[in-house]
Amino acid sequence: HCCHLIGAPVQTGASQPGCLMGPAAFRTAGLPETLRQLGWDVVDRGNVTLPETAAIDHANGAVHNLAEMVGWTRVLSQAAYDVMTASDMPIFMGGDHSMAAGTVSGVSRYAAEQNRPLFVLWLDAHPDLHTLDSTGSGNLHGTPVAYFTGQSGFDMFPPLAAPVDPGNICMMGIRSVDPAEHARIKELGITVHDMRTLDERGVAAPLSEFLARVAAANGLLHVSLDVDFLDPAIAPAVGTTVPGGATFREAHLIMEMLHDSGLVGSLDLVELNPFLDERGRTALLMTDLTASLFGRRVLDRMTRSFA
Ligand code: ARG
Ligand code: MN
Ligand code: MN
Ligand code: MN
Repeated sequence: HCCHLIGAPVQTGASQPGCLMGPAAFRTAGLPETLRQLGWDVVDRGNVTLPETAAIDHANGAVHNLAEMVGWTRVLSQAAYDVMTASDMPIFMGGDHSMAAGTVSGVSRYAAEQNRPLFVLWLDAHPDLHTLDSTGSGNLHGTPVAYFTGQSGFDMFPPLAAPVDPGNICMMGIRSVDPAEHARIKELGITVHDMRTLDERGVAAPLSEFLARVAAANGLLHVSLDVDFLDPAIAPAVGTTVPGGATFREAHLIMEMLHDSGLVGSLDLVELNPFLDERGRTALLMTDLTASLFGRRVLDRMTRSFA
């Protein structure tokens, strides 16, 4: 099997700089070699670059770096579409979460051409469901889900070849939701398993239900993993830490179940800010989680940890 890596050094959607270094940190943490050791052919396509952009103003004065997000969306959407035709399971190494406007829209275009419905598993403390009008912070990493589900007000962005059906989105780990996002979750019918649900039911039952739906529809599954899905105690390298996140064991179990399902077609690794990391531990954890998704077994992991 072949896995392509694409670097998306996007940081204009976040409130502080640093995600620019994310792709380099994943390479430094040994992501390519780790996947090769699991038997994958790995092709690193390098980093996507942002073409020149002219500033775009918005009626919501809080919005900033809009032209950059529009430009990244255009180039990443095309890169994602192209790589889907070449790769069994590409990984988009971010970069802040605004990059998912590009990756998910490109993957969605590919899925539509294959006549397969796209499903999205959003692993995050936040739903990232603001529109350009509703965002209070103006940090555009809070908006990609609204864009790729086709909400209004994104007219300056590339038109969507295939908007993602909100009913095909499952969010897990959610624990920081703004009022406008809350209303939109209800209105759109997105499945949200917040931390309370995960405390009560664990991660396995909700995830199994979702995977059964994907399988029944012969769907293609895109996974978007935000560092802040994880508890800040194990993953400090993110600008938007929220207490009470997923544990090491919950996160690995999710990745192992995703591997066993055979349904995952593409992966975003987002919001890693290496400037905030402690001796690379967050980059290494994200790499280990990716390894579980790509087939590493718990016993292999123990061997490595205790070696
Ligand atoms: N909802 C908050 C905002 O809009 C936080 C967004 C955090 N998003 C992220 N991808 N880390 O500013
Ligand atoms: Mn922010
Ligand atoms: Mn996010
Ligand atoms: Mn988040």
